[in-house]
Formats: sequence, structure tokens, C-alpha cells
Amino acid sequence: MEDTNKNQTNSNGNEYFVIKAKDNGVHVIGLTRGQDTRFHHTEKLDKGEVMIAQFTEHTSAVKVRGKALIITKYGTVDTEE
Ligand code: TRP
Repeated sequence: MEDTNKNQTNSNGNEYFVIKAKDNGVHVIGLTRGQDTRFHHTEKLDKGEVMIAQFTEHTSAVKVRGKALIITKYGTVDTEE
């Protein structure tokens, strides 16, 4: 099937990242792609909850608030460290 740009297709393909909440009330905030950079979605995770997501045509950046592990192909970041 033809590859479209729906999920920010690049040489890396459509990589996923994982956010694992280490506390209640972690916020995963999606920021819009393009000229206008604003929040478009906030997902609230409680302790132990996991969100698996991609960068897409709508989402070019993600902000994580609270204690969480952010797991990507580049490695794992702990928001507390
Ligand atoms: N509707 C959003 C999109 O397609 C869903 C989404 C994808 C999202 N990745 C995200 C929301 C990361 C928040 C954070 O872009």
C-alpha cells in the first residue's frame, strides 16, 4: 500500500513512543504541527497507565507533565531525572 504523509512519514517510518505514568495525574499534551503551535489534546494518565502514540500530521510535539517514563527509539527519559 502506498505510504502517505498522515503520520509524519520520514526515513524513520511511523515511530511510536510510549508514556508510562509513575504517578496519578500525568498529562500528555499534543501540540499542533505547522505555523500555529498550540495544545490540541490533553490526555490524563493515572499511575501505571500507558499511552502509546505517534507523531502525526496533526501532532508535531508532545509535552509531558508529571512523573513519567517517556520511552522512544532514542532511549528512555524519566521526567524526574
Ligand atoms: N488526533 C491526534 C493526532 O492524530 C491524536 C494523537 C496522536 C495525539 N499523537 C498524539 C494526542 C500525541 C496527544 C499526543 O495527531
